[in-house]
Order: sequence, then structure tokens, then C-alpha cells
Amino acid sequence: MNPIMHDPGAAVRAGIFTDPSKTEGQFRDYRAGVRPEVQELYRLNHTNQTLDFVLAQKQKYGQLDHARMSVWDAMEKLNQIVDDSDPDTDLPQIEHALQTAEQIRRDGHPRWFILTGLIHDLGKVLCLLGEPQWAVVGDTFPVGCAFSDRIVFPEFFDANPDSKHPVYSTRLGIYEEGCGLDNVHLSWGHDEYLYYVTKDYLPPEALAMIRYHSCYPIHREGAYDYLLDEHDREMLEWVKKFNPYDLYTKSHEKPNFTELRPFYEELVGEFFPAELRW
Ligand SMILES: [Fe+2]
Ligand SMILES: [Fe+2]
Repeated sequence: MNPIMHDPGAAVRAGIFTDPSKTEGQFRDYRAGVRPEVQELYRLNHTNQTLDFVLAQKQKYGQLDHARMSVWDAMEKLNQIVDDSDPDTDLPQIEHALQTAEQIRRDGHPRWFILTGLIHDLGKVLCLLGEPQWAVVGDTFPVGCAFSDRIVFPEFFDANPDSKHPVYSTRLGIYEEGCGLDNVHLSWGHDEYLYYVTKDYLPPEALAMIRYHSCYPIHREGAYDYLLDEHDREMLEWVKKFNPYDLYTKSHEKPNFTELRPFYEELVGEFFPAELRW
């Protein structure tokens, strides 16, 4: 089975979450008749995302010695991936990227913000480097301290050995009050990976959007406020500003890639070298 190959019919056949006319409250609805693959992904994710696993992944990918690719190479590769964790869309990722960026552009935001919309999910190329989806997509959360019950599917953490660890299962775990997110290890996925790839090229606000956009327990639930510092609180305002573009632009309307490409090629060239290290 290759769960990452795009099967546009799968969600349609399942008859779930494929209606573009749905209202805001219907997005990210994990409870009502969630697709079985979404639930299975979170079961695997919550079972296996331990502090040790995250540290090993950071070691593995921190050197950025896995590939050299342009943003466009990565974008084309993304077309092979459909995110199993996402209850809202079965569109190829490139269309999600363009829909997100286009809405940011229509709202008159700065060019770095538009670019961030375009590239924010490029870290999902991890799937093509052999990582299972549970180590690439889905909401992220701190590891090395207690798992909050405000994380989606909290019951699956019972199978995570860290939930019984004498230190990692405590409120602060290995951290100090207000230590700042830079010092906190989040579950491994496409956010952190793309942050590594882009950190020399984008302003801090863009990097925060990239690094924390999947961390709903922090930016939406406020579940770990005690770990944040002042800088985080400032940056999270930008993450929250970005979030609706990521969520509510998912529809079945296809952006015209050929028409849009010149604009985005110029934009990418403004910030990034021809090739990036992955
Ligand atoms: Fe994402
Ligand atoms: Fe996204």
C-alpha cells in the first residue's frame, strides 16, 4: 500500500468531507464520521512521536544533506501527495499551495506572506524521502512534557511510552516555565523540516508561520502558554493570521497554474536561490 499516492476518488467514494460549500465550523471536524485513514494516522502519530523519535529525526534531517531541489522541483513532487491527516481536502497539494497564496495575495498582504502561503507545506516532501505520513503531517504538539488533552485524539497517547515517563509526563517535563518555543521540541513533521530548509531566507514572521502552522494545541488551543516567551506571543499573532488562509481556502476550484506561474516564479526568485538544500 502506498498511502501517499494521490487517489482523488478515495474521499469521494467515502462520501465524507468533499463538499466545497461547507461552512467554517465544518472544517477540521475530526469527530463526525471522520475518514478512517485520518484516525489511523493520528493513532500511529500519537503512539510513535516520542522525545527520542523527534531528536533522532532532527539529527537525521538537520544537516540538509538529503537532496538539492528548487522550490519548483519540490512543488512538483508535492503533486504526488495527498495528506491523509486532512479531513478537508483530497486535492493535490500544489492546488492547496496556490489557493492559499492567491487568497493572501488578493487580501493585499506583503510579498513574503504570499510566498509563505505558497511554500508552507513543501516540507511534505518528507513523504518522498521515505517517511511515513504519521511523521510528516497532522497537528503537532510539544514532546518531552505532558501531552495536553486539547490535542486531537488525546486517547491515542496512552500507547506512547512518554506518557508514562517520570519526567516527560509532567507539566513542565524537560522544560522551564516561559523557556520559549525555540527551546521546545515539537512532534516531528513537515513544519520543522521546512523551517530548517528556509531559515536563512525568510523574515521571522514567515518562519514562525512555517514552523508552527500545524501546532493547533499552541496557536489555537493555548494549551502550552506556560512554555511561551514574549517573542513567541508576538510571532503567534502571525501564525494566527496565516491560519485561515491555510484552512478556509480549500475548495474544489482549480487555480490556473499556467497563468499564475510567471508571478510566482518571480516571487520565489526574489527570496530563494535557484537550488535549496533539503
Ligand atoms: Fe501544513
Ligand atoms: Fe496547508
